[in-house]
This record gives sequence, structure tokens and C-alpha cells, in this order.
Amino acid sequence: MQELRNKVAVITGGASGIGRALADRALEEGMRIVLADVELGALDRAAGELKNAGADLLAVRCDVSQAEAVDDLSKRTLDRFGAVHLLFNNAGVGSGGPIWEQSLDDWKWVLGVNLMGVVHGIHAFVPIMLAQNEPSHIVNTASMAGLVTSPGMGAYNVSKHGVVTLSETLSLELAERNAPIKVSVLCPGWINTRIAEADRNRPGGPSGDDRSRMNAAIRQAIAHGLPAAQVADLVFAAVRSGKFYILTHPNWKPLIRQRMQAILDESDPANGMGRTGR
Ligand code: NAI
Repeated sequence: MQELRNKVAVITGGASGIGRALADRALEEGMRIVLADVELGALDRAAGELKNAGADLLAVRCDVSQAEAVDDLSKRTLDRFGAVHLLFNNAGVGSGGPIWEQSLDDWKWVLGVNLMGVVHGIHAFVPIMLAQNEPSHIVNTASMAGLVTSPGMGAYNVSKHGVVTLSETLSLELAERNAPIKVSVLCPGWINTRIAEADRNRPGGPSGDDRSRMNAAIRQAIAHGLPAAQVADLVFAAVRSGKFYILTHPNWKPLIRQRMQAILDESDPANGMGRTGR
């Protein structure tokens, strides 16, 4: 997608971190913006700041784990702007702990937001994009945790591996139809955002159980991660060039090779980010 001015961008998880940086960047590109997030206070603040900076913006409180909420987001997008061209299925949460200790509620929460949230976005928006038959683009936020496997974050790993193959499948299916819709999957390494405090949005409130949070090493790595604005630059470059895989940390590529080699060698699984285990 080359021409972005006056086109419509929908961003889930747009109130913070990577989503917020994508919104800032969409504004710089002269796009009209639909900002969706489950956290009302943060959404109102972000929407106010973007409007003050000149954005033509619709803010929608939306829990992406709920299919009806994402359908409603698509309807409100069409009511306000009449089209959608750039969809960022970006909202995400994380939790930690060994698989057998992560509560089933945590599993449902993480898979509901990170994986089903993307499925809901595709269900609600792709039919609209197909009917429009104009150049459009979908960016699904996965993670390096969707390409390699590290201990201590099982539900997150499963959700993000799911988003990678979901995105690959979507890209192949749209190409088979010659649809003018491109797909990218964003696989960031550590980015300095509020993801380590994701349980602020856990249904029913934070668990209060430190074992279910991302471990201290991960929290530390995130605090020292790349600025989200740099991710937004990479993402918009990929939208313009039609690039599918977006990796923010090229120096981590050997970890992907290591995992693939272990599969081909039929050996034990490689530890993707060794230092992050508990
Ligand atoms: P963040 O916590 O700063 O932003 C996430 C946003 O998603 C927040 O505004 C939050 O309110 C929203 N959100 C949470 N649950 C939601 C729901 N049910 N419905 C709608 N919105 C919801 O974190 P960050 O890092 O900006 O996260 C964005 C994406 O990037 C996520 O998918 C995350 O998994 C992914 N990611 C982040 C990395 C990092 O190091 N920060 C690394 C790899 C991937």
C-alpha cells in the first residue's frame, strides 16, 4: 500500500506502547484513525492527545477477546469513515510461570486476547476489505515468542506462534484469490512498553499473584527495550513495501535458525531466549 493520506487505519491496543506509536505514525502520514482499546482511561488520554495534535479520530472501547465487540468496532468504523484500509491487530497481554502453574483463567485470557483477538479482527474486517476491493493491508502483532520457544511464558508462546501461522495462512489465502489485501506479521523482540504490567487489564483485576506475572528478567529486558516509535517506522516501511515478516531485532535471527535446525535434526528443543527462563 503506497498511498496512505486520508486512508483509514484501525489500531487495536492503540492506547499504549506499540499501538500508540502506530497511531502517532498514522497521524504523521495523514491517515484517519480508529483507536481501539479495552483500557478506557488510557484510551481517552491517548485519543485526546492525538486529537489535539490534529487527528481525525474515532476512539472505541473494545475488548478484542469478544467477537461482538470487534464486530461493533468494524460497524462503527464504517459508520464514521465508510472504509478501512490498514488494520493493526495489535492488542496483546502476557503472563508468566510454568505451564502447569499458569491458571486456566490465564490461559483463556492470554489466548482470548492475543490469538482470538486477531481472529476476531480478521473475521470482522476482511470481508469489508474484500468488498472494497481497494489496496489495503493487515498487520498482526505476534512476537519473537511466535518464532522461537522460551520457558516461563507458555500461554504467550502458544498465542504468538498461533498468530504467526494465522498470518501466514491469511496471506496465502488472500494471494490465492488475487485480493488487493497484503498481510504482515510483526515479530518484535524487547520493546519498551507497558506489556509487563498487562495484568492491569486482566478480567477481574490483577491476580495479585506475582508468579503469574512475566518474570523479573523479562520485565528488566522490556524496560531496556527498543523505543516503540522505531517499531512503528519499521512497520510503516513494511506496509509501503508489502513485506510480510517484520523483525525488529535482526541480531536475534540465529535463534530462529537454531529452532529450525533442532526440528530438522529431530533433537531436543532449542531454548529461544535462554536468559529469560525462571
Ligand atoms: P502495552 O501494554 O503497552 O500495550 C498493549 C495495549 O493493549 C494496551 O493499551 C492495553 O490496554 C491493550 N489491551 C490489552 N488487552 C486488551 C483487550 N482485551 N482488548 C483491547 N485492547 C487490549 O504493550 P505493547 O508491548 O505495546 O503490546 C502491543 C503488542 O506487542 C502485543 O500484542 C504484545 O504481545 C506485542 N509484543 C510486545 C513486545 C514488547 O517487548 N513490548 C515484544 C513482542 C510482542
